[in-house]
Amino acid sequence: MKDDIKTLERECAKAIQEARTPAALDEVEIAYFGRKGKLTTMLRKVRDLPEKDRPIIGNVANKAKKELEKRLSERRAILEVEGVSFDDEWVDVTEPGRRPPEGHLHLVTHAIREITSIFEKIGFTRVRYPEVDWDWYAFEALNMPPDHPARDEWETFFIDAPSSKKGKMVLTPHTSNAQVREMERGELPIRMISLGKTYRRQSDVTHVPMFHQFEGLYVDKNVSIAHLRGVLDYFVKSFFGPDRMVRIRPFHFRFTEPSFEIDVSCGVCGGIGKTAEGEKCRVCKRGWMELGGAGMVHPNVLKAGGVDPSVYSGLAFGWGVERTYMMKEGMQLDDIRLLYKNDVRFLKQF
Ligand code: PHE
Repeated sequence: MKDDIKTLERECAKAIQEARTPAALDEVEIAYFGRKGKLTTMLRKVRDLPEKDRPIIGNVANKAKKELEKRLSERRAILEVEGVSFDDEWVDVTEPGRRPPEGHLHLVTHAIREITSIFEKIGFTRVRYPEVDWDWYAFEALNMPPDHPARDEWETFFIDAPSSKKGKMVLTPHTSNAQVREMERGELPIRMISLGKTYRRQSDVTHVPMFHQFEGLYVDKNVSIAHLRGVLDYFVKSFFGPDRMVRIRPFHFRFTEPSFEIDVSCGVCGGIGKTAEGEKCRVCKRGWMELGGAGMVHPNVLKAGGVDPSVYSGLAFGWGVERTYMMKEGMQLDDIRLLYKNDVRFLKQF
């Protein structure tokens, strides 16, 4: 019996050593340690031995079992580290490689690049100003003294940080803070496009708390509303297409005088507001879509930026990037927050 155990032990140890994959090792384990396995059967026989032989033979059998268990777990660890042995695998070295899935830029990044390059063609340079800025640049220098009710339109996040001479710090609720910052550089004329993140305390199907705006500013001698019209026409036709029209409507901003809101004719119904069947246009409902604000820079703003309003005048406009992009695509998002959910199924469509 002792010899039988020894023989079995040797045989099993060899099988463990020769197993080349974790799966092969599983088979060895079943063949020896399984319920009907060779080792299990042998151990069962020990129980049936006469009482006097049982302790000695039992001892030998238990030792063999322990030793084999150790070898088994050692071998398993090795095979798992090595992975599959290549000895019995076949590799086709001529097979073409598999391309990892390719990503692309976010649609807002695309829009930013396109808008920038359109303005560059008429001599505007993209600049960047702080997205966390002093109240002075976001409001006060823009002709909005503290406590002025016009500020209510920008639902501003204030930063819990010490104030300075320039007031509190805010997350810029619009890119108009760039206007006075650019004037402070002291180089005239100015042709800037400032494009960055803006923040407002709002989150619903048509608003996100972080969005992007682009701010145009042109300051020179004799800048007039005719220039504003020209810039608007140029941008709208380049970005939306030659068939789209611009309309300017009187409005009010503290930092421009006169002020306007800019509308673009709807690309779906062609500015009529109705479908061919006479139904209300699903996208615009009235033929026009609102792009954003614009106007002639207020003399107080020029003064705040150190520019003499009796010599210079300027035009400014500020629009939301997400909104502008959606108007281009004739896209109707049920929920604008989708743009920032990072759901690849949505993003890969653009
Ligand atoms: N900053 C304004 C807004 O956020 C837009 C604007 C910019 C209006 C420049 C006039 C001139 O609504």
